[in-house]
Amino acid sequence: PIHPVILCGGAGTRLWPTSRRAQPKQFSLIVDGHSLFQHAVKLVDGEGFSPPLAIVGTGQRFRVLEQLARIECAAGEIIVEPDARNTAPAVLAAALTLGAGNPDAVMLVLPSDHRIADIAAFRSAVAAAEPRARAGDLVTFGIRPTRPETGYGYLELATPAARDAESPQDLLRFVEKPDAARAEAMLQGGVHLWNAGIFLMSARSVIAAFQTHAPEIYQAVRESVADANSDHYFLHLGKPGWMKADNISIDYAIMEKASNMAVMPFAGRWSDLGDWASVWRDSDEDEDGNVIEGDALAFGCTGTLLRSEVSDQMLVGLNLDEMIVIATADAVLVAPRGSSQQVGRVVSQLRLLD
Ligand code: GDD
Ligand code: MG
Repeated sequence: PIHPVILCGGAGTRLWPTSRRAQPKQFSLIVDGHSLFQHAVKLVDGEGFSPPLAIVGTGQRFRVLEQLARIECAAGEIIVEPDARNTAPAVLAAALTLGAGNPDAVMLVLPSDHRIADIAAFRSAVAAAEPRARAGDLVTFGIRPTRPETGYGYLELATPAARDAESPQDLLRFVEKPDAARAEAMLQGGVHLWNAGIFLMSARSVIAAFQTHAPEIYQAVRESVADANSDHYFLHLGKPGWMKADNISIDYAIMEKASNMAVMPFAGRWSDLGDWASVWRDSDEDEDGNVIEGDALAFGCTGTLLRSEVSDQMLVGLNLDEMIVIATADAVLVAPRGSSQQVGRVVSQLRLLD
């Protein structure tokens, strides 16, 4: 089987005030009745997949159990991080844990801030990518870009036609989070896909990639995993080793550097739900482009997201244009839609996340 690895230790600050330190977005943002974490689990619940390994911060570990139980899914290993170190150490810890008994284990690394509606199409793409991952390549999944987004990684392919292929393609270059000019150039150039942040690779190849491209992280995380202890539900990583690991994403630490990479184009609908503009973009809009969630009403508004999470409290927007208004029981966000990416920075400055 394929071993799903669900990354769910992010802070999700850009979705404040729904996302809080005590309940970050992957567990709190409800779309179609499920949290984003539950969406990720459902993608890989079924034949051909082991129960998912989840890797999470210590404060959220019981949430993983609770949310798996609610959708009646079995838990695989739940790895608990002593501190958030971004995705590179997390992916390596998963690879070392899975690889200890089975170095050829193929892991499907999934973020928990996405929505993919067509589960069958996604599973076919994974199946098509599997031989390449078994052969030792690091396979990433690519999405046709629709705007010059600076918040994503870009995957350069050899030809425009390669972007529509139904089998893995060689990756020429990986560019993580370009500036606006470079993003625009890649959009126009016609040979790039967005990195979906989903990776299929063997534990052995992940470990080898860290040994080559990030040896300090490898040493630190290896010490931490060797030092880990399990209790009834969780595998707690050792703290001294873990604290030595750099805080860096897998994209910068490995994917921008590795040469054994391939891209599996994915043509199905894919949405990153990392900020409020993307939630607006992904939801069904009324004829004026508004998205209304909960007890809210829009009068004369255009392109606006009104989301009320408080029952018995009406949220009313009047003549708003491209705004975001999020009302929760103890905090309200009002911002132009174009400022969505800055919400995270403001929140950490104000220490409002709790
Ligand atoms: N366990 C753990 N520990 N998980 C983490 C940590 C951590 O310290 N930090 C982040 N995560 C989880 C998040 O919860 C999320 O589900 C996933 O890892 C990806 O992290 P993000 O912080 O959301 O990454 P990003 O959105 O900036 O960029 C990535 O995704 C883009 C697509 O959405 C990159 O892979 C980009 O290249 C990609 O385009
Ligand atoms: Mg993200």
